[in-house]
Amino acid sequence: MNRLASSVAIFVGMLVPMAASAQVGIRNSDHDLSASSGADIKNANDNQICIYCHTPHKAQSTQLLWNHSQTAVAVWSWGNDLDGNALTNTTAGTLLPTIVRSNSKRCLGCHDGSVAIGDVSNAGDGQKGIIAGLENLPNLTDATGKLIDASKIIGGGGNMGGNHPISIPYAGQTGYNNADSKAVADDAIGNYFKPTNAGCTSATGWCTTAPASDGRNGAAINLIPNAPGGATNFGIECTSCHEPHNRFGFDKFARVDNTVSSGLCRSCHNK
Ligand code: HEC
Ligand code: HEC
Ligand code: HEC
Ligand code: HEC
Repeated sequence: MNRLASSVAIFVGMLVPMAASAQVGIRNSDHDLSASSGADIKNANDNQICIYCHTPHKAQSTQLLWNHSQTAVAVWSWGNDLDGNALTNTTAGTLLPTIVRSNSKRCLGCHDGSVAIGDVSNAGDGQKGIIAGLENLPNLTDATGKLIDASKIIGGGGNMGGNHPISIPYAGQTGYNNADSKAVADDAIGNYFKPTNAGCTSATGWCTTAPASDGRNGAAINLIPNAPGGATNFGIECTSCHEPHNRFGFDKFARVDNTVSSGLCRSCHNK
């Protein structure tokens, strides 16, 4: 290969990963279920995006104007250790929850496969029901429109075994979902970064002190106060790590690009 051809090849090689990560926003992401979406799961009969999760009227709750029916699961468990003993605490000793918070229930309503993806409190004209058109997509949904794609199911049947803890207090925090953390947040190597409200780009305005370097970005981590709008008692939920509208364009809707030096993990864990 001559020098020009090899530098063109290097240039094209640089463009491909840039193009792949450039898509930012919900349009054509896995959460765009509209007829005109590029996603695998989409509704050929309906070209709306937001309706599966939000509605301006007759929502489940004014909080986030949440339209999707919540998970049918009422009690959660965390599987076993490798000796077969049921887990009730994290390794540090923090209580694992049997009841998860609405923040994560919103995700599980679709992702645990217990409720149809189109099952909402306002399917149009103020009518509760199932937005039809997502049934029987081969290997993706069942005859009632529930998610069956095993690679995207989380917490099926309420079994959270094998998943990162959620609905637990962040390290050093008390009074979140009726539990106190046994883990330490002091910014030191080996422990967790502390919570802060300085410079956060997260939804709640609270994030971690991890510097924006070497793949880390504490500012994007979304710590959840126990009471909405609160400034104390933080916990972590699905949206501490994920941003469901693909705001950042990272793999798996991550808030920090975990494909770069495990930057997401290292924005809470100072490892
Ligand atoms: C697959 C579900 C889903 C879809 C589809 C969706 N959202 Fe959301 N949206 C959420 C969740 C979950 C939250 C809460 C996020 C959090 O807790 O950080 C949220 C939060 C919001 C918020 C308040 C917080 C913020 O990020 O500003 C707005 C506004 C919003 N969504 C607008 C929209 C609009 C407009 C659309 C359609 C273009 C849309 N959403 C589509 C799940 C969805
Ligand atoms: C939003 C902050 C946050 C992020 C991001 C995060 N973690 Fe965690 N992690 C926690 C908290 C909080 C705990 C529970 C601490 C305790 O025991 O109280 C935890 C616990 C753990 C545990 C111990 C589980 C147990 O009980 O033995 C491991 C291992 C772990 N995380 C790995 C990871 C990995 C890998 C990533 C990246 C994919 C990650 N974490 C991302 C906050 C986070
Ligand atoms: C209205 C239903 C619905 C809700 C609510 C929902 N999702 Fe999804 N999500 C989907 C569907 C459908 C897919 C695509 C599944 C497939 O292709 O098999 C998906 C895919 C994903 C993916 C994979 C993206 C990828 O690129 O591989 C992630 C991560 C995800 N969702 C996280 C979340 C989180 C976190 C929440 C809550 C904040 C949430 N989802 C709420 C329906 C939903
Ligand atoms: C501590 C950070 C963290 C938390 C909390 C978290 N996730 Fe994830 N999630 C990730 C990372 C990193 C990936 C990509 C790695 C992978 O493929 O598992 C991922 C992948 C996914 C996927 C794609 C399937 C897969 O395993 O690749 C889905 C769907 C998903 N998450 C949903 C959820 C839901 C629902 C919750 C809350 C019950 C949640 N996540 C909580 C970090 C997190």
